[in-house]
Amino acid sequence: MVANPGAVHAGAGHWTFTEMRPQDLRQVLAIERSSFANPWSSALFLQELRIPFSRILVVRPAGGADEPIVGYLCRWFVADEIHVLNVAVHLAHRGRGIGTLLVGEALREAKRRRADAVTLEVRRSNEAGRRLYASFGFHEVGVRRNYYGCGEDALIMRLALPRG
Ligand SMILES: CC(C)(COP(=O)(O)OP(=O)(O)OC[C@H]1O[C@@H](n2cnc3c(N)ncnc32)[C@H](O)[C@@H]1OP(=O)(O)O)[C@@H](O)C(=O)NCCC(=O)NCCS
Repeated sequence: MVANPGAVHAGAGHWTFTEMRPQDLRQVLAIERSSFANPWSSALFLQELRIPFSRILVVRPAGGADEPIVGYLCRWFVADEIHVLNVAVHLAHRGRGIGTLLVGEALREAKRRRADAVTLEVRRSNEAGRRLYASFGFHEVGVRRNYYGCGEDALIMRLALPRG
């Protein structure tokens, strides 16, 4: 197996986190389409890859770049904050702690970069997402009414990071 040249660091034990590359698009899109009613398009993912302050973290079993992607998290670095725009885990791998690993990795990175806070938006009806974020201490700080249409609100969640 070829070592993954894009690896930024090994994940907790059995997982490897890397920054998404254009060749990861097919796998990421498959997860995206099975995760959201209004999935991001391939053009949108490719646009994110070109934005200097945007990064998409992908996670796969440790072993090399040939291992299948099981989840991803897109985040923006804006001033002193990190904004999480998208998180999804492959249907077959949910409930195994991978979402927790992805958010945990984004928070470690935010601390390394001395960010003040991490923010995100989540559908009010998204029980799994809300619980995942709450487990890290994210708090609801606002609501965008009917943000997703069909009467579905977006909850704005924020986690302040201690300095030090
Ligand atoms: C939200 C999502 C990323 C969670 O990923 P995951 O790998 O299954 O999450 P984990 O296994 O790490 O679980 C973390 C916590 O989330 C919550 N959770 C996960 N699945 C859940 C479910 N089906 N129902 C309720 N809570 C759930 C639990 O609190 C869980 O912690 P616990 O196992 O200690 O109770 C995944 O369900 C997903 O991809 N959903 C579709 C896309 C999406 O909604 N993304 C978030 C948009 S803001």
